[in-house]
Amino acid sequence: MNQNEVKALVGRNAVETLVKSGMKLGLGTGSTALPAVRHVGLLLREGKLTNIKAVSTSFQTSMECEKWGIPLYTLNSGEIGGCLDLTIDGADEVDKRLWCTKGGGGALLVEKITAYASASFCVVIDESKLVENLGLTFPVPLEVVPEARRTVTLALEKLGASVTLREALRKAGPVITEHGNILLDITFGGPVNCEELECECKRIPGVVENGFFTRVRPVVFVGRSGGTVDIKQ
Ligand code: A5P
Repeated sequence: MNQNEVKALVGRNAVETLVKSGMKLGLGTGSTALPAVRHVGLLLREGKLTNIKAVSTSFQTSMECEKWGIPLYTLNSGEIGGCLDLTIDGADEVDKRLWCTKGGGGALLVEKITAYASASFCVVIDESKLVENLGLTFPVPLEVVPEARRTVTLALEKLGASVTLREALRKAGPVITEHGNILLDITFGGPVNCEELECECKRIPGVVENGFFTRVRPVVFVGRSGGTVDIKQ
C-alpha cells in the first residue's frame, strides 16, 4: 500500500473500532485525520452511526464536516459542555511512551484543547511517525503572539532549541494561524525531556501553546504498508 492508502486504512479502522452512536467527538486535522472524518461522515450517511456531535480542530476539518453533513458544535456549546467522549487526530511523531508531537498543519492550539478535553484520545499514524526521540527530526511548533517573536526565540534558544519562523508558501511572510498568531518550529540536537519541555515552553510569556502532547495518554493506531493496523496503548 502507498502512504495515502495506509492513512485511509488507519483512519477508517480507528473509526470502526472506537466511534459509537451518540458520542461527542473531537475531529483532528491533517492528511491522516481527514480519512477518519470522512469515514464518520460515510457511516452517518449510511445510518450506521447516529446522533454524533462533532467538534472540529481547524478550518480544514470544519469544511470536511460541512461537506459530509457531520453536525458541528464548539466545546462551548451547551450540547458539548466542554467535555468530549473521544478525539481522533493525527501526529507528527510518536515515541515509545506514546508521547506525541503535533502541529505540522499549524492547528496545534485547538488540537491540544480538544485532546485534553476528551475522555479518550486516539492518534492515527502511519508507521513512519514512530520515533525513538521526539523533536530531533520533525520540528515541534509553538504558537506565539507576533509581538513576542524575538523574546520567545531567545528563551527557546536558552532551552537548547534551534528555532525557525514558519514561512507561508503561497503568501509573503510568516504563516498566520487561525487565531492570528505566528508559529516557531523548534528542533533539538539530542534527546530532551518532553514532559518538562511541554511545561517550560508554556511558561514563556507570549507562547500560546506548544506541540508537545505528554499529559494525555493516547491509544495509537499505526497503519503499516503491508495493510495491517497495530494498536498501541
Ligand atoms: C495538524 O496541526 C497536525 O497536528 C496534524 O495532525 C499532524 O501534523 C499530522 O498530520 P498528517 O497526518 O498530515 O501527517
